[in-house]
Amino acid sequence: MSDAILSTAISTEDQFTSGAYTKRPLTLVRGQGCTVWDDEGRPYLDLTSGQGVALLGHAHPAITAAISAQASTLITCAEAFYNDRRAELYTLLNTLLQADAQDVTSGWRFFLCNSGAEANEAALKAARLLTGRCGIVAAKRGFHGRTLGALGATFNPDYRGPFAGWTPDVAHIAYNDIDAARAAITDQTAAVLIEAVQGEGGVHLADADWLRALRRICTERGALLIVDEVQAGLGRCGRWFAYHHAGITPDIVTLGKGIAGGVPMGAAAWRADLGTIPPATHGSTFGGNPLACAAAIAAITALRQIDAPARADRVGARARGWLAARDLPGVRDIRGVGLMIGIELRTRVTPVLQALQVRGVLALPAGKTVLRLLPPLVIDPSELDHALIQIEAVLHDLA
Ligand SMILES: Cc1ncc(COP(=O)(O)O)c(C=O)c1O
Repeated sequence: MSDAILSTAISTEDQFTSGAYTKRPLTLVRGQGCTVWDDEGRPYLDLTSGQGVALLGHAHPAITAAISAQASTLITCAEAFYNDRRAELYTLLNTLLQADAQDVTSGWRFFLCNSGAEANEAALKAARLLTGRCGIVAAKRGFHGRTLGALGATFNPDYRGPFAGWTPDVAHIAYNDIDAARAAITDQTAAVLIEAVQGEGGVHLADADWLRALRRICTERGALLIVDEVQAGLGRCGRWFAYHHAGITPDIVTLGKGIAGGVPMGAAAWRADLGTIPPATHGSTFGGNPLACAAAIAAITALRQIDAPARADRVGARARGWLAARDLPGVRDIRGVGLMIGIELRTRVTPVLQALQVRGVLALPAGKTVLRLLPPLVIDPSELDHALIQIEAVLHDLA
């Protein structure tokens, strides 16, 4: 890209963008490992992973090689035909899901799509088709995406409110409240859709007892338990899937973000003994395309090679221990599991994010007062230490 184009990226984007995004005045042009560079060559330690996508960091050699090889072999192959890469990915995902699902003897079925929201759309439609019921139960503070179906399950009224009347009716219950779950889940409930760790909602962990109770109540009442692992899954929370912490197996699992190493992909997986959905009840032109499948095979294989869940568990616990041992001004709470870390502040998070950016560290908000760290799972402990020291310094500066 020429210098002239780079220098006008901000004004050009501002001229043409939809307006849907609140943007930071920073133009990123390159990434390598856990570092991204702006258009003036300045490096930033990336604790956003592109909203949790870059589990393996940026420009991981196995992913770039897989994309490049598949791009010169076959990029597109609609689901009207079979494809070698798609078949290979199904097998790999089945192995991953099956590893801790002793009670699922049938294996899993998959609908492949292009984002986390689409994965939840597919899961909700599958639940409707597989149960013949209409009711949906989700959790307060939950985030499941912004397409109309997924938006109905997303709690934040700022996101959902403008589309009232267009989204499905969803009963939102308090997170971790077993009595509320017992009252809301009925024999009309098709699905209960929750996150085992709420990311966007502020980094809140589900109680294992609540997840086990949801599992029991869903089974008793014939509702399907959908766990949205779009952000928490694939190793981020110290297990392949965050629900493993409670020892449960959902009926449906949704995946997205880092599943294909940064290439857009989402997946809804359901227990194969639930059956298939009728032809033409769902579909996607790009779903299961060989390029994304090849990238996903490379990403999941690389995550397995480094035992990403164990690494996230170890590095994340060390970071949270470091934070907890400090007397950090303005901090109300430190939460998290694995490499999803939330630092709840007494004040708004935006100034902290801005000051961190000046110090060469990019981090995320989760709501108005939570600083959220979603580093690549390959982050070196010394890189994370450096970022934590910058966070400590910023909190002191702003105190
Ligand atoms: C838990 C969860 N579900 C769904 C989504 C939506 O994913 P996407 O933005 O890829 O549609 C997100 C995105 O942040 C998420 O965190």
